[in-house]
Amino acid sequence: MKGLILSGGKGTRLYPLTYTRAKQLIPVANKPILVRVIESIRDAGINEIGVVVGQTAPEIMEALGSGSKWGVQIEYIPQESPDGLAHAVKISEDFLQGDSFVMFLGDNVIQGGISSLIRDFANHDWNSQIVLKHVSNPSAFGVAQLRADGTIERLIEKPKEPPSNLALVGIYMFDHHIFEAVHAIKPSWRNELEITDAIQWLIDHGYTVSPHVHDGWWIDTGKPNDMLEANCHVLDEIEPRIAPDAVIEGSEVDRRVTVEAGAKIVNSIVHGPTIIGENTVIENSYIGPYTSLYHDVTVQNCEIERSIVLEHSGICDLDARLHGSLIGRNVSIQHKVERPRTLTMNLGDYSNVWMI
Ligand code: G1P
Repeated sequence: MKGLILSGGKGTRLYPLTYTRAKQLIPVANKPILVRVIESIRDAGINEIGVVVGQTAPEIMEALGSGSKWGVQIEYIPQESPDGLAHAVKISEDFLQGDSFVMFLGDNVIQGGISSLIRDFANHDWNSQIVLKHVSNPSAFGVAQLRADGTIERLIEKPKEPPSNLALVGIYMFDHHIFEAVHAIKPSWRNELEITDAIQWLIDHGYTVSPHVHDGWWIDTGKPNDMLEANCHVLDEIEPRIAPDAVIEGSEVDRRVTVEAGAKIVNSIVHGPTIIGENTVIENSYIGPYTSLYHDVTVQNCEIERSIVLEHSGICDLDARLHGSLIGRNVSIQHKVERPRTLTMNLGDYSNVWMI
């Protein structure tokens, strides 16, 4: 079996962060989502992985390289324009060479990995297996309608009036029959070749598509709040550890905190689940639960909770607690104390600032 990861797309709902960084490379609990995807495919016993890349190809290729760092072999498949998930399958036909494969959307984070799904697929003669999850906002996803016996009646992409609350998770398993489907279907109203339509085509042509309803958590990280939500889930599950060379002085660091190599925590309180990245420095501050500070971050005289701060950013002297925030790379946030009180900002396009 092979793996196919889709890592194109512009990530418009995460502007301005995604102007300068591919959304799949944004870290959740200090590890890029795409790396989490690669690790879960590898942990399911699959070593040959195709990564479909779009505009952000150079950055993704630089981050993943040959894949040897994770014990896998990566081949890059360029997608000229974002023409849909079924189009991505179509252009990967040479790489897949008729093998069965798991397709994993590079911005999906799921609890528990995919080993048991892959085992199930390998042990049955299904042509495809899809993963479903009960959600409160099914219109934002592909939706499945099941029959009383649990088989799939139909699949609809982003229906205005969803027939159920079962969303299609971005993890799909296929055998070679999917190529007949992706060649047969026509573009949707949004002018994309939809994977949902290709799977419906399999069902309509008598192929077996088995639905698996996932009962752990699953996040499709489209918007900033999804990132924070995924960060909370992953932080809840990671095994805390303190790097031997981390420096902790005059501070209260609880047992659910991970402190990475070279980090320094001075005169501060850190409550977990939280992760403090490599060479990050925290002074006279409070870091609350569900916070991920990536590497080389500086926090001085501040309070931060339920937030993600990316590398090389500095946050100093704030007089309000930073909460529910997603802060990019090389960002500087500081409180000015001079009079007259003015606000000085140097923000990128599409930045959001909430003043209190
Ligand atoms: C895609 C699929 C949709 C699926 C979702 C899961 O949506 O088209 O069926 O539910 O991924 O992440 P998109 O991310 O293209 O909006």
